[in-house]
Amino acid sequence: MKERIGLYNHIPFCQKKCHYCDFLTFVDMEDKMDEYIDYLVKEMALYHGRYQLDTIYFGGGTPSYLAAEQMAKIMESISKHFEILPDCEISIEMNPESVTKEKVETYLKYGFNRFSMGVQSFDNATLRMMGRLHDRQKVYEKVALLKELGVEKLGIDLMFGNPKQDMAVLKHDIELAMQLPINHISYYSLMIKENTPFQRWVLTGQMRVLDDEIERKMYHYIQSELAKHGFHQYEISNFAKGEVESRHNKKYWQLENYLGLGLGASSNIDLVRFVNHRRFADYYGMIDQGKFPIQISERLSVEDREKEYIMLNLRLLEGFAFQAINQRFQINFLEKYQDVLTKHKKLGLIDYDHERIWFTEKGLDMGNQFYLDII
Ligand SMILES: C[S@@+](CC[C@H](N)C(=O)[O-])C[C@H]1O[C@@H](n2cnc3c(N)ncnc32)[C@H](O)[C@@H]1O
Ligand code: SF4
Repeated sequence: MKERIGLYNHIPFCQKKCHYCDFLTFVDMEDKMDEYIDYLVKEMALYHGRYQLDTIYFGGGTPSYLAAEQMAKIMESISKHFEILPDCEISIEMNPESVTKEKVETYLKYGFNRFSMGVQSFDNATLRMMGRLHDRQKVYEKVALLKELGVEKLGIDLMFGNPKQDMAVLKHDIELAMQLPINHISYYSLMIKENTPFQRWVLTGQMRVLDDEIERKMYHYIQSELAKHGFHQYEISNFAKGEVESRHNKKYWQLENYLGLGLGASSNIDLVRFVNHRRFADYYGMIDQGKFPIQISERLSVEDREKEYIMLNLRLLEGFAFQAINQRFQINFLEKYQDVLTKHKKLGLIDYDHERIWFTEKGLDMGNQFYLDII
């Protein structure tokens, strides 16, 4: 029988690199995109007939930067080499300037049903400082277009903690976000990544990072404002209104099986975690030889998986059920981790009842302490 998994497709191209971003993505490669798609299709052929898909996810980079025909080619190939289940969740990450009517019509034709757009902020000065190509107006236009074409599950990505995005900007960002017809928000705290302009500006003193206290204050403000507007938080950075939680991302947190295709994509199938080559030449070279373009592969012990299961699942606000972990790993969770659980319940980081365990608000902020004790 075919195994049921989620499929991730990495699209490593952007029109412009944002000043804070270190994702595996390249600019000025428009003329190389067809070649990449040819290889992505060849990689799919290596997995022919093995899997059923209940989620498909296009991430990047900027998947919406691909032309409509390029995306159509990828989807045709997915249907050829995998079995797409009838209720499959198909998600795409987009950024505002690259969304067009023709592309959205193509997405809908191929069954895409979850759309998320990188907005980051509604403040034009902040957007310029981030190196974004769009302004607030462009977001409004593209959200209107997506709704006009019948998109139902629509989310945006926002960021906070950027020094230009002070409390006043943050408040305004939330106010404007709440006026949009969206039902999902990923709200990320800015991370200063290596070898980015942001890191350079921090090192040279041109940019000052927010202190932790203000950053946490902002996070709590986001949590309470979004809750007031009917967005329930289901993960550290994710909020949904209604049944629009990302099923695909939940697979990552719940340690379910997923296959990542494309440059640098990572996979997790049963006890094996593997990551594709990160350089085009290596990725293409392996596929040319008819081999899986895998650079790193590690088989985890069941004990490692168990600890990973605990840590990832606690990112979810609902935590996890004892029955689930006991069945999966053949343990008695409460007995095995009794000392750590007693200590951290006293410290107020975790809470549990007779069925489940979850992080308290304090635990969501300071979970590392608990993780260290689990390991
Ligand atoms: C791969 S991007 C996909 C969206 C699309 N490329 C765009 O930027 O509009 C996913 C999201 O990660 C977040 N992100 C990227 N770099 C980050 C950083 N350094 N710190 C926090 N969040 C970041 C942004 O909110 C971004 O929208
Ligand atoms: S944030 Fe999105 S658009 Fe900007 S460089 Fe990263 S992946 Fe590309």
